[in-house]
Amino acid sequence: MPLLDRILFPRPRLSDARLRRAVGGRTVLLTGASFGIGEALALLLGRAGAALILVARTADKLDAVCDAVVAAGGQAMAVACDLTDPAAVEALIAALPPVDILVSNAGKSIRRGFWASTGRPQDVGRTIALNYTAPARLVSALGPGLRDRGGQVVSVAAANLLLPPPPGWAAYQASKAAFDQWLRAVRPELVAAGVAAGTAYLPLVRTRMIAPTAAYDRVPAMTPDHAARVIARLLVTRRAYWRPWWLFGAAAASAAIRPLWERVSVAWAKRHG
Ligand SMILES: NC(=O)c1ccc[n+]([C@@H]2O[C@H](COP(=O)([O-])OP(=O)(O)OC[C@H]3O[C@@H](n4cnc5c(N)ncnc54)[C@H](OP(=O)(O)O)[C@@H]3O)[C@@H](O)[C@H]2O)c1
Repeated sequence: MPLLDRILFPRPRLSDARLRRAVGGRTVLLTGASFGIGEALALLLGRAGAALILVARTADKLDAVCDAVVAAGGQAMAVACDLTDPAAVEALIAALPPVDILVSNAGKSIRRGFWASTGRPQDVGRTIALNYTAPARLVSALGPGLRDRGGQVVSVAAANLLLPPPPGWAAYQASKAAFDQWLRAVRPELVAAGVAAGTAYLPLVRTRMIAPTAAYDRVPAMTPDHAARVIARLLVTRRAYWRPWWLFGAAAASAAIRPLWERVSVAWAKRHG
């Protein structure tokens, strides 16, 4: 691993025994398990003894992840579901056994500038449906059961939610921010009732999600396995959030640089818009 990546993304401490205590024998609903971070997390949690319910749209890929978990000695079942479809989400909820842990990882990103988006209402609709409405519905529907079982919710969010919003990512950024705000707002009530809730603010992760953006090819990025360990550590610690160490003070810095950011981002849009 290049030196810069090692400095930016030090390997999280994760004890196999503590992970097994946190998830072993527990029923874990993991969305977005067919590719990328979710796939890596499914394999990690499967090895730690979790009983996994894996959700995504691509049924054959989901089955392959399921088979890999089982081949490594774990337990998993695959449920193909389009989480942008409210009726499919309700059918999923109705079919679920009692769940101990929800990892809300499924996500869709769109990079498209405002002027290219004016005739595309689906950009906002689809990102909101997947990145906000579906996870909020899942947490709400599973909430009473999670409370009875001392359960846990982990949201897979993006580190740039802690920074000024970048041009070109409005639909993605806003939909991820919506669920982040929602979960932070309900977290006190969840925690008071014995349900842990945490958010992983991940930096760039080298998955198919960032592959279309050529500019990211030469930028440091976590591996999916590394991101999975970060999320697993949140499951172990039951903390409120994880963020990269270099985003310490990000909220304060973000407020302080806002005037400068507004000027710089307009200059950027004039050049690239
Ligand atoms: N990659 C990054 O740089 C990065 C950084 C910060 C945060 N994140 C977050 O990390 C999470 C995982 O992203 P990733 O990088 O692993 O991307 P990915 O490889 O594209 O995986 C996204 C997952 O979400 C599933 N998904 C997409 N649309 C869905 C739908 N309509 N219904 C059900 N499942 C759906 C996909 O499965 P199907 O296509 O089979 O449905 C896939 O399993 C996302 O929430 C993302 O916002 C990523």
